[in-house]
Amino acid sequence: MKILVTGGAGFIGSHVNKLLLSEGHQVTVLDNLSKGYQDLVDKRAQFVQADLLDRKKLAEILPTHDAVIHMASLIEVGESVKKPIEFTQNNILGTVNLLEAMKNSGVKKIIFSSSACVYGKPKKLPITEDDPLGKQENPYGITKVTMEQFCMLYHRLYNFDVIILRYFNPFGPGELHNPETHAIPNFVKAALNKTPIPLFWKGEQVRDFIYIDDLAKAHTLPLNLSGLHIFNIGTETGVKVTNVVNKIFEILGYKVPLDDKGERKGDVTELVASAEKIKKELGWSPEISLEEGLKRTIEFYRSNAI
Ligand SMILES: NC(=O)c1ccc[n+]([C@@H]2O[C@H](COP(=O)([O-])OP(=O)(O)OC[C@H]3O[C@@H](n4cnc5c(N)ncnc54)[C@H](O)[C@@H]3O)[C@@H](O)[C@H]2O)c1
Repeated sequence: MKILVTGGAGFIGSHVNKLLLSEGHQVTVLDNLSKGYQDLVDKRAQFVQADLLDRKKLAEILPTHDAVIHMASLIEVGESVKKPIEFTQNNILGTVNLLEAMKNSGVKKIIFSSSACVYGKPKKLPITEDDPLGKQENPYGITKVTMEQFCMLYHRLYNFDVIILRYFNPFGPGELHNPETHAIPNFVKAALNKTPIPLFWKGEQVRDFIYIDDLAKAHTLPLNLSGLHIFNIGTETGVKVTNVVNKIFEILGYKVPLDDKGERKGDVTELVASAEKIKKELGWSPEISLEEGLKRTIEFYRSNAI
């Protein structure tokens, strides 16, 4: 298939591109490089530096494609609180632009990067896809819920094939966000630099960490699906954040002090996915253990100046 990957110069997109190419697909990456890095884009992909808000460019590029994997988004929660207009414009308007351009070009399949944040504070664990969506505590979460809603609307109005992937906590090599607010890259970088590890909630929160290669697989398996599908992507294993820190110490063979950052507003205590649905329907299952994923992540940051 010929696939347009929006945001393909970012952390997750760059891994998805590689997998698509290795499976024989043709890939066009569209990214404005506001947060991504052209160096992360596989050389076999066609790279177009453009913004989702550029309707003319979208109309030019889209027509020869069979599907879109839509990952372009501003993602930093704290930034979204400070810049709600920018997030609304970039994420929501950008998505509506894309959907309109797809409709006009006859490209009617979209795989959308959503997030476990749409569930808000979970009503039960593990979280299943039919659980109700929850109250959002920041503009980023609202943009994700709204982007999902627009994708689903285009399914109902125009018969788009829509696959919504709700990621739990992705991690792995190539995560170069700036600012970085995700736990694992911050822990690994601090430990390698022998500086204190910044820890919220004394590390008592529970998260479902999903390794990037396993997450990438969840994007190529649904390419032939039609209709509307929503899948959680997680390992179904809740891990205390403090246990991740200890695992990193164990792998490195030394410890660094902890920097107690207290509580962080809006964080939920525990997030664990049920991934039963994607396992049953697409035969997806995660293969990389937390320990192996951490080893590979540490290796990445060790061999890249940080
Ligand atoms: N990383 C996570 O932990 C996580 C968790 C849940 C969901 N997601 C979602 O996954 C997707 C990818 O996340 P990531 O971690 O790879 O982020 P990232 O910031 O590394 O990648 C996003 C890419 O989108 C590009 N982009 C942003 N706005 C754009 C626009 N208007 N036009 C063109 N390009 C634009 C950026 O330049 C960047 O390269 C996002 O949609 C994010 O919301 C990420």
